[in-house]
Amino acid sequence: MRKTKSLHPSTLVIKTSLSLFFALFLGLARPDPDPLQDYCVADQKPPQAQSVFINGAACINPKLVVPSHFATSALGKPGNTRANAFRFNVTLASIANLPGLNTMGLTMARVDIGPNGLVPPHAHPRASEVTICLKGSLLVGFVDTTNKLFTQQLRAGDSFVFPKGLIHFLYNLDSGSEALAISGLSSQNPGAQIASLATFTSKPLLPDVVLEKAFQITGQDVMRIRKNLGG
Ligand SMILES: *[C@@H]1O[C@H](CO)[C@@H](O)[C@H](O)[C@H]1NC(C)=O
Repeated sequence: MRKTKSLHPSTLVIKTSLSLFFALFLGLARPDPDPLQDYCVADQKPPQAQSVFINGAACINPKLVVPSHFATSALGKPGNTRANAFRFNVTLASIANLPGLNTMGLTMARVDIGPNGLVPPHAHPRASEVTICLKGSLLVGFVDTTNKLFTQQLRAGDSFVFPKGLIHFLYNLDSGSEALAISGLSSQNPGAQIASLATFTSKPLLPDVVLEKAFQITGQDVMRIRKNLGG
């Protein structure tokens, strides 16, 4: 009779953790890269008919790179906070005006908020955000997945962090002057989804019955909120 070699359970655990450690350490096992777009519908054409699609932007020839590719003045000018009903304006330093950011996993944002203006509850599906209040007085906060609210009042010089994907807001408590915040985001394409606009002004519209039941409101309420939000 053949004798089967059996491992002591603790030896097995050590062997498994060691091989896992080496696989991760040597880069043999890697998670998928984070997608930089909302979706990536599979191209089902045969390979010979496909053009090239990559996650992010292609690189220019490294020999042609100059220092100005890593600089921008985009955040120096305030955005117009009177152009929308919420009275906020976000100006981005992204690969559009700062091409050196490509593949670095970063975006920077200048957030101007008018008197009593609000950056309404929204989420960035691909980025955490750290913000510093440079001017004014901001009430900021986020809601975690257990529905707990974390909120703080920021004055000039104070920072706050919004965890990736969680609903958050910034409100200018001052009724007399503009507030200014600068945010760093941990993706070159953070994405932004404003909760009220996503639910009430999507194109095409969500069925009224879905909103009536979700928010426990009437059809008239749905119409009124849509109109208020410009949908
Ligand atoms: C932000 O401000 C710029 C000009 O400063 C303006 O063109 C743009 O429409 C504003 N955006 C929003 C969403 O209000």
